[in-house]
Amino acid sequence: MVLSNREKIIQLLAQNMHTYVSGQWLSDQLGISRTAVWKQMKHLEEDGYHFKAVPNKGYRLIDMPDKVSENTLFWGLDTDVLGQMLEYHDQLTSTQDLAHTRARENKPDGYLVVADSQTKGRGRLHRAFSSENKNGAWFSFILRPELSPVEAQKITLLTAVSLVRTIKQKTTLEPKIKWPNDILINGKKLAGILTEMQAEQDQIHYMVIGVGVNINQRLDEFPEDLRDTVTSLMIETDERFKRRYFIQDFLKHFETLYRTLLTDGFDSIKDEWEQHAFRRGETLTYRLGDKEKSGVFVGIHETGALLIKNGDQTDRLYSADIHWFEGGHT
Ligand code: BTN
Repeated sequence: MVLSNREKIIQLLAQNMHTYVSGQWLSDQLGISRTAVWKQMKHLEEDGYHFKAVPNKGYRLIDMPDKVSENTLFWGLDTDVLGQMLEYHDQLTSTQDLAHTRARENKPDGYLVVADSQTKGRGRLHRAFSSENKNGAWFSFILRPELSPVEAQKITLLTAVSLVRTIKQKTTLEPKIKWPNDILINGKKLAGILTEMQAEQDQIHYMVIGVGVNINQRLDEFPEDLRDTVTSLMIETDERFKRRYFIQDFLKHFETLYRTLLTDGFDSIKDEWEQHAFRRGETLTYRLGDKEKSGVFVGIHETGALLIKNGDQTDRLYSADIHWFEGGHT
């Protein structure tokens, strides 16, 4: 990709955010005059970039505009691997599709694809996922875990816990995880997770984890038929959030939990998932095959199955039509 001088300056300053870089060094790197560098810096300031300029030391980038881009996402990203290689697009059909393409091109573990809007966002069970609006966070990343395919569900559960942690870090809201992978606030959907993988019987080649979070949408920005069932962080808090910080913080939480999974196992993550599970401890009714059944939702199994207690027996539900809400929608 050919970068403009402006993009190169942003990139160099972002990569050196803890130190000062001199105008001379920038002009040497770019092969342009110091006056040209200075002019570019003035333009950047007009666009919302903030620099600290110290005589004899040079410039240091201290803030970027509230814009999602490769540079703003990279700047301040406190992970070792996740998102350290990334690409951002104004619009994509779906970040999942591009992440799959990149995985097939052998892009590494942690490779991240972010889009400002998606024209064909998708959710579980081939459902459409509304993400045309530019006020959400829509992204997918590649993982190459040394796990067997039966363990893949742990990654979905871990992703939900990472979202809960990110939301709790930023707000006083009480996020709930609706099995298997929706995040609800006050009973309305704030975020969804889509986990896809390429695998053989006992080996995962790669996984693509897709995350969609409603961040700064007003209710009238959602399609009309969704308005009773969705929400955004802004609707719930009356505050605007910087989407890039949300993505960065999520990636940090995910990386921490992913390490926990690989080194200490799944138990603590499962506990945290259960603590935030929507309607845990309550009696759920569900349709299994052609039977209507009910039982108490007691937790999850590490395979991702829902554990339902019926008298002395605990059933594992891998898929079922569960009546989560009084009105009957699932
Ligand atoms: C669901 O609600 O069933 C899952 C929704 C997952 C949406 C995210 S947005 C980023 C990524 N790209 C997609 O097309 N889907 C996922």
